[in-house]
Amino acid sequence: MPTVSYEDIAMPASVAIARTAPLYERVKSVIPAIEWPVFAGDIDAILTLKRERNAVILAHNYQTPEIFHCVADIVGDSLVLAREATQTDADVIVLAGVHFMAETAKLLNPDKTVLIPDTQAGCSLAASITAEDVRLLRQCYPGVPVVTYVNTSAAVKAQSDICCTSGNARKIIEGLGVDRVIMLPDEYLARNVAAETGVEIISWAGHCEVHELFTAEEIRALRKQHPGVIVLAHPECPPEVVAAADFAGSTAAMADYVGSTKPARVVLVTECSMADNVAVLNPATQFLRPCNLCPHMKRITLPKIRRALETLTHEVTIDPSVATPARAAVERMLAM
Ligand code: 13P
Ligand code: SF4
Repeated sequence: MPTVSYEDIAMPASVAIARTAPLYERVKSVIPAIEWPVFAGDIDAILTLKRERNAVILAHNYQTPEIFHCVADIVGDSLVLAREATQTDADVIVLAGVHFMAETAKLLNPDKTVLIPDTQAGCSLAASITAEDVRLLRQCYPGVPVVTYVNTSAAVKAQSDICCTSGNARKIIEGLGVDRVIMLPDEYLARNVAAETGVEIISWAGHCEVHELFTAEEIRALRKQHPGVIVLAHPECPPEVVAAADFAGSTAAMADYVGSTKPARVVLVTECSMADNVAVLNPATQFLRPCNLCPHMKRITLPKIRRALETLTHEVTIDPSVATPARAAVERMLAM
């Protein structure tokens, strides 16, 4: 495939602004007009590069609106991104999200080129546990099935029986039909699922650095300040935060909740870009904005996506000895 250079697609800013005007219409409620010229050139170039490369961009719900609404082909939570990764006939997949998401896409597409625009886009949960930790846990609890959250490295997935996401954790745990499971590495997700299922869960002390910051006190104060507000929380939040919310679910479940119930006023107890992205599609709902930024998700930017497509970097590779068992754990999840 020929290299596409920066110069080949460079053009006056006014042309890019004019060509991307319909996209700006879509996001004008969350991106000030003065910022658009900064984004227009990269957006226009990325749209051209996608065609040149036969590439698709998979973007997580925490990506900023100029990525999520203007260059992404598929958007969603971790489960949707994994499922959709199996459906594409593109040659190149760019994962606008964090590294474990790109690894999952690669596991499911071993013959495609999978790119992550910034290799440092990690995750505090994925960093909290190693494959060796899982091997030791298995020795401590022989015969107890190991369920790993997709927010883990491929090496950790390779040591597990099955994966889960926040969107299907309850279904996966109940589907195993056992009284006791090891569920790694998110302690809060494990406790939240244990409360819903009655299954005994052996967990790990991993936490999401974004969701662990929310407190039940904060939610009570919000309710006092804004009577009638609907509170939606991600299950990576501490159990007392989930208990104080009206609904807990994956990022896709939160977006669906707003889309289907159309609350007058809502707060999404999660990463900051979620509210922007959902607000674009729900103009009648007022979004309160206490939120926390994920520094890893925020490493992904339009210039880095453009660069990834221009240079076909950074390619995700997984050692076959790890990829085979890790893929099996992801595929078992998708089949359930
Ligand atoms: P979702 O699968 O719910 O999108 O969550 C992924 C994630 O990283 C949340 O912090
Ligand atoms: Fe990881 Fe939390 Fe960031 Fe999600 S929000 S990628 S769980 S650190």
